[in-house]
Amino acid sequence: MSFNPELCRNESEVESKLIVSYLLPKLGYPPETWHQEVAFGTIRLDFLAFATQVIPFVLDANSPLSVVMEAKSPRQNLDRHVLKFRRYLTSLNVKYGLLTNGHFIRIYERVPNDIRLAFECTGKEVEARIDNIYAIIGRESLKEKPVIESPDILPIQNNLSLGSVNQEVSDSQPVILTPQGSRNLTNSEVQSPPPANLNTQSVLNSSSEEKRKPSVKVIAVYHNKGGVGKTTVTVNLAAALSRKGKRVLVIDLDSQANTTFATGLIKFDDEEEDNLKECNIRHVLQSEDFYSIQEVAKESQFNNPEIDVVPAHITLMQYENELNQLDYSKLMLLQKLKDVEDKYDIVIIDTPPSLNLYARIALITSDYLIIPSDLKPFANQGLLNVKDFVKKTNEFRKFIGKDKIEVLGVLPCKISTNARFREYTLPAHIELVPKRYDLKVMKSIIYQREELSKCLETSQDVGNMQIPDPKSVFDYKPDGDSAKEFEQLAKEVLKGIGGKK
Ligand SMILES: Nc1ncnc2c1ncn2[C@@H]1O[C@H](COP(=O)(O)OP(=O)(O)OP(=O)(O)O)[C@@H](O)[C@H]1O
Ligand SMILES: [Mg+2]
Repeated sequence: MSFNPELCRNESEVESKLIVSYLLPKLGYPPETWHQEVAFGTIRLDFLAFATQVIPFVLDANSPLSVVMEAKSPRQNLDRHVLKFRRYLTSLNVKYGLLTNGHFIRIYERVPNDIRLAFECTGKEVEARIDNIYAIIGRESLKEKPVIESPDILPIQNNLSLGSVNQEVSDSQPVILTPQGSRNLTNSEVQSPPPANLNTQSVLNSSSEEKRKPSVKVIAVYHNKGGVGKTTVTVNLAAALSRKGKRVLVIDLDSQANTTFATGLIKFDDEEEDNLKECNIRHVLQSEDFYSIQEVAKESQFNNPEIDVVPAHITLMQYENELNQLDYSKLMLLQKLKDVEDKYDIVIIDTPPSLNLYARIALITSDYLIIPSDLKPFANQGLLNVKDFVKKTNEFRKFIGKDKIEVLGVLPCKISTNARFREYTLPAHIELVPKRYDLKVMKSIIYQREELSKCLETSQDVGNMQIPDPKSVFDYKPDGDSAKEFEQLAKEVLKGIGGKK
């Protein structure tokens, strides 16, 4: 079957199926050369790809070396976005931009003060026309284009707010961006001022394949109250991020192994066939020299694209004391994750509903914390424990030279969809959290919806046996409200983790 982007049903599918899975690879851009959700002041680009990798990134007269890609919903008419697109290309001095809603694919070229349509085809034609597209914005094609343009390039607009970078930029100077190792440049990441003695031209001419330092971001999903939606959030957030082109690793640190189940790694019906007992997170924590993450992680098919998962096991419980006596076990995960820093962009850790060793390890290892909560009285009272636990863990982190964990916020989960509740009670519940517990609340809300519990319960008949075959909510009900809510959460998380490291 040939590829037909006209079948993309929403903006997120245009992004994931057409841009991430098809166009970027076909045009020769490996993951480390492109960035999603890039913010420059008021401008937010869906994708920015670089033909040559240089540090710092330079968006100036010589920016033919980069290309912007914007995805719109299939319901949107592209004409309505052209003016905005023009502003993006001219004010950022980017030479080429691709604009698509799945039905049509357009490439605009920046000419001194304007843009012009350089190419257009329908979604159906994309495979047949990919060579034409490659000739304009393929990675190798861009590299071959002349680097120096005529000097009548538009200067950087002064109304762009680029943090400290902007203040250093006069009308005719280039914008120089120094990312801090992330594949996502957000506003706060773009804050390092350009080095004083930096020569733009030499940057462009410097070794073009210079590697950026990989930096994996680790997020713990934790609340000591049970059943608030930690596991549901872990697996579906992982799915949402992987659909955005992130390379995601999920780690299950809960002996209930619900994430291990939810990601479809428990395929056996009989414990004799248990292939996880002798190779799971316990082994990672216990062995200094063996059981690397790479060795223990298993590829899970619960979502397309696949996600790697380090499984847990029920026997984790009985090893807690033993592991507690090993001085190094608390740091082992942190240590071993260093070996896979360039393999993943984001690691999400699911935790047990307790204040035990495994929860502690999750909080020691992570850079960020999401606290799912149904905002009901018990979950709220539990927030005091969470805060105290975070405080104690931070003391330990200080001791090992690690910054405090950054709390992304309390994430309202399993929230009733009842209209009156949403209108009157929910705002009051949300308001209470910062007031009473001094914790911020995330903007995203995960409502209680059938598809979220059902998607993890699906099974497959194999002969006369029923084998669990859980699905992410995106694979189970791509157009459902839950998928949209997780899409929103992924965006908020990407924004939240953009600025650190
Ligand atoms: N938003 C939601 N809508 C509907 N059902 C949900 C939602 N979130 C979670 N559930 C259901 O609630 C139950 C508990 O959710 P989940 O396992 O994610 O919580 P947890 O915090 O990980 O629990 P534990 O503390 O035991 O690990 C599950 O049956 C799950 O399917
Ligand atoms: Mg759980």
